[in-house]
Amino acid sequence: MRLILLGPPGAGKGTQAQRIVEKYGIPQLSTGDMLRAAVAAETDVGKRAKAVMDAGKLVSDDIVIAIVSERIDQPDCEKGFILDGFPRTLVQADATEAMLAAKGLDLSVVIELKVNDKELVRRVSGRYSCAQCGSVYHDSDKRPAAEGVCDKCGSTHFKRRPDDNAETMTQRLEVYYKETSPLIGFYYAKGRLKSVDGMADMDVVTGDIEAILGAL
Ligand code: AP5
Ligand code: MG
Repeated sequence: MRLILLGPPGAGKGTQAQRIVEKYGIPQLSTGDMLRAAVAAETDVGKRAKAVMDAGKLVSDDIVIAIVSERIDQPDCEKGFILDGFPRTLVQADATEAMLAAKGLDLSVVIELKVNDKELVRRVSGRYSCAQCGSVYHDSDKRPAAEGVCDKCGSTHFKRRPDDNAETMTQRLEVYYKETSPLIGFYYAKGRLKSVDGMADMDVVTGDIEAILGAL
């Protein structure tokens, strides 16, 4: 199963991807997470990406296409993968088609998470994650069961993203509507698009996604 989770910043792509990983045992390929790892490791790519990401703009197509192309060649992607936050431009969408065709692979489905802007800003400004395993939480909606202790790995260290502030979020939304939302029409025209109400409770969204995946 090879799927794309498409949606604006804060739509729940990462949250739902983690649940699909657990249920279906296929890896989550988040270009945002990969770029943040490169920034933390201070690689050449990380050094080039940091300022762009902190400003809420997009890293160059060439860089992310190369990262994803390399990643899907890894053995753990043989049974499938979830693309989270990629493709994000029409150039990246075309490259994805070419990349999969060259490897003789098919795209199973593109799942769009629909959420309004007010809710996106609310979600992103409350978001934090486990510094050790990356599990995502929210100040009011999704706190760990034991205060200050990650449910998944037990770590007591948490972090917030530098781009999760109101000003950068405005920029990220602008970029989403200009560069990424055209992908909705792109995949609709290919008969690949399924839309889910991302405003619903997390478990309801998961159920809707599982229904789509179960019907494939
Ligand atoms: P990236 O890391 O991909 O960020 P994003 O797309 O802006 O999306 P987010 O990760 O912020 O949101 P999400 O949809 O994963 O939501 P989440 O599940 O966390 O990209 C970051 C940057 O990297 C980009 O700005 C760009 O610079 C660069 N980049 C990455 N990919 C690139 C590419 N392909 N090309 C170029 N540049 C690229 O949920 C958010 C919050 O809401 C959480 O607190 C969560 O608990 C909560 N929540 C989730 N679902 C629900 C629900 N149903 N109800 C209530 N709360 C919910
Ligand atoms: Mg994410």
